[in-house]
Amino acid sequence: MRLRARIEEDEPAKRTLRSTFRLHAESGLAAWLRYAPLPGAEHRASLPSHIVALNSTTSSPVYIAGQELEKGIEGIFGKQCKVHHGHYGAAGSVVVGTLDEYTKAYGNLTGAPDLTEDGFWLSTKGSTVQILGQNERGALYGAFEYLSMLAQGNLTQVAYASNPSAPIRWTNEWNNLDGSIERGFAGNSIFFADGVIVSNLTRAAEYARLLASIRINAVVVNNVNANASLLTPQNIDGLGRIADAMRPYGVQVGISLLFSSPSSAVQGQTNLTTFDPLDESVIAWWTNVTEQIYERVPDMAGYLVKANSEGQPGPITYNRTLSQGANLFAKALQPYGGIVMFRAFVYNQLNESDWRADRANAAVDFFQPLDGEFDANVVIQIKYGPIDFQVREPTSPLFADIPKSNTAIELQISPEYLGQNCHFVYLPPLWKTVLDFDLRADNTTSLVKDIISGRRFNRSLGGSAGVVNVGTNDTWLGSHLAMSNLYAYGRLAWNPSDDPTMMLQDWVRLTFGLDSSVIDTITQMSLESWPAYENYSGNLGIQTLIDILYTHFGPNPQSQDGNGWGQWTRADGETIGMDRTMSNGTGFSGQYPSEVASMFENIATTPDNLLLWFHHVNYTHVLKSGATVIQDFYDQHFAGADTAQTFVSMWESLQGKIDEERWNDQLFRQVFQAGHSIVWRDAITNFYHNLSGIPDEANRVGNHPNRLEAESMTLDGYKLYAVSPYEAASNYTAIVTSSNTTSGTATTTLDFDSGRYDLAVNYYDMYGGASHFVVSLNNHTVAEWTSNLRQYIGSIAAPRVLGHTPSIYIDGHSATRITFANVTITKGDMLKIVGTPDGNEPAPLDYVVLLPPGVVD
Ligand code: GCU
Repeated sequence: MRLRARIEEDEPAKRTLRSTFRLHAESGLAAWLRYAPLPGAEHRASLPSHIVALNSTTSSPVYIAGQELEKGIEGIFGKQCKVHHGHYGAAGSVVVGTLDEYTKAYGNLTGAPDLTEDGFWLSTKGSTVQILGQNERGALYGAFEYLSMLAQGNLTQVAYASNPSAPIRWTNEWNNLDGSIERGFAGNSIFFADGVIVSNLTRAAEYARLLASIRINAVVVNNVNANASLLTPQNIDGLGRIADAMRPYGVQVGISLLFSSPSSAVQGQTNLTTFDPLDESVIAWWTNVTEQIYERVPDMAGYLVKANSEGQPGPITYNRTLSQGANLFAKALQPYGGIVMFRAFVYNQLNESDWRADRANAAVDFFQPLDGEFDANVVIQIKYGPIDFQVREPTSPLFADIPKSNTAIELQISPEYLGQNCHFVYLPPLWKTVLDFDLRADNTTSLVKDIISGRRFNRSLGGSAGVVNVGTNDTWLGSHLAMSNLYAYGRLAWNPSDDPTMMLQDWVRLTFGLDSSVIDTITQMSLESWPAYENYSGNLGIQTLIDILYTHFGPNPQSQDGNGWGQWTRADGETIGMDRTMSNGTGFSGQYPSEVASMFENIATTPDNLLLWFHHVNYTHVLKSGATVIQDFYDQHFAGADTAQTFVSMWESLQGKIDEERWNDQLFRQVFQAGHSIVWRDAITNFYHNLSGIPDEANRVGNHPNRLEAESMTLDGYKLYAVSPYEAASNYTAIVTSSNTTSGTATTTLDFDSGRYDLAVNYYDMYGGASHFVVSLNNHTVAEWTSNLRQYIGSIAAPRVLGHTPSIYIDGHSATRITFANVTITKGDMLKIVGTPDGNEPAPLDYVVLLPPGVVD
């Protein structure tokens, strides 16, 4: 029997074994900056022999660039280059510095490049290399560009200037002061613990290094759901320490503000009774706090503000406008050159019985009337779609509707609604649907990427904000493959026209090496990943049919409706979808410029993948593809889960081509995803099958001949449990132990042809307990695991913990499958499962399935 995934909690005993594999193991901490040795010592002759860094101040980005070049060239080629800081011969050297410093040292550069802020010039002529930035940050970016070429074995001669598309290339880290991270899936904060800034900021500096290499220039370090105590004198000093740690990498610090801070009794600050943005004492309060911050952090990037949204206070609390709120901060920041990123994510709870109510309308309703009223240093930060980081959304119309305001796009690298890095989704193809979308403002080409760069509407500011949420986990995001999203985010913020496949392949080479099968396999998996996830989590523009009322991880289509959050599907027995037309619906389609509005208004010109976003139709409505809506739901959910199964074997094919540690860790995630995609598929198809009463033409939905339902087995010490939501269990029912201390047994006689099968067990891994399961055939143990998502593969023991938001319930979040490959079955065998409860987890079981090789349940 080969264990595909054996889950086990008791790992310390196996540590010795693990250490054998640590020799070549990689934790992921170095991400794409590994500088791994390249075969090809023959190239060394053409490399520079010296590095000239035109700044000797150790905290300067140019000095850092010199260090990186030294480290990189040595790591990749084993060649030691000495770094010089004074004037040194340029021939045979790599010279890095600002264009100005270069000119001072070596005279005018012939064919001097046209550089804008943060831009750089890179020229390689054999062993003579020039890396010249418009500023120090640009020089560091150029050094990373050159090192990226080298690390990919690219020694071609180049000479070009690279300039950013937009000045704002920020990340947002939703870190709370207690060290937790909202929608973070990789452990705790690298910045905060216990209400203050951590003393050891090594990881913050390492993060800044990663960000500099992808040309990110600022990080907002705390959650948009902010806490006023960030503004205590002790924390302002802590922010100064973070800024000091990141500054050498050209990364500035920004902070999220709680709008009501002046009246929040911040220790060390005056306590007011109001936070009215027009009140003189409030204005003075923010002016004073801003001054204190700039005293400690002279290059603070600015403020991020979430106001009047999801319970956050804001100017509307005092009947002031959102622009009056934003300008309060803009005026305080203006003397220091700081920027206010003011979020457009403002909406109210709504009543579903009002056919015309629509949360998607909110941003334009709130912001369009204020266009022209925001100060010059305010940027409206707009989520890519009108709702909330769904698996597919139409482009937010707000980008086109406030031409007199600066705008930035908000993307989510931390995939809150897209599998929380326990499912793998390469996000740039999704982002590109928005960046490349032509909103046709004034019937003129108006690509979102040209709006946020400021070009389309002649704005001086604009750009991108990416919600990253890195944590203390060595993988940064919780999964090695997920790092391609962060890498590509930076690349797109610099140049939104970059190609998702090219960026991905650069990342693969830098992260895993140059083996072409590794590149091809990861490319295929990556490009199939978003379509697969969309297919099994909610297609046709219905949104991610996730549990929106709890952890945003597993399926719960019912949770979209019947509440005020406005993520409605309006599904009933005959019909589904939001009518967002002007003629009969919420009028949302009318928020777009006319050409786009008429495309979405008309069902015939609305693309199938957004049909249910814009239209309310019968399940029997025929799509452009020729299938009915309901049949397409069934077909795509099965297709998506099928694709997720193939990721396991694709990843397995890379064994030995990637170090064991990273290979195992990702395999664990792919196996989990394969199982959970079936949970998703079944939940969604059963739910709509039940609701519509329309059978699946292919007879797959609710028909699983290879399954043995736990509730149909002979039970001893186990009892039936009606799962909620019902569709999160096969046949709606699971079993749980009758007591929370004594084991239960489920037994059945196998009526399968003798042979080899993959034996999979669907169970629930809840937070707050680690039940133990033993599966035996005729009392001979064939599988054993502890339900705590810690895992064994083969002989390697490693604690592997999934970082998704946990669930304390038996539901679609905790539903999990474990598969044991190649189990020999003889007809008539007695299969027994003994489940031992732990804590509040009553060893919950859903079903067992026996799959002949190659068959997906
Ligand atoms: C989502 C997310 C919240 C977050 C919010 C925001 O609703 O679930 O955790 O606070 O977006 O972007 O402000």
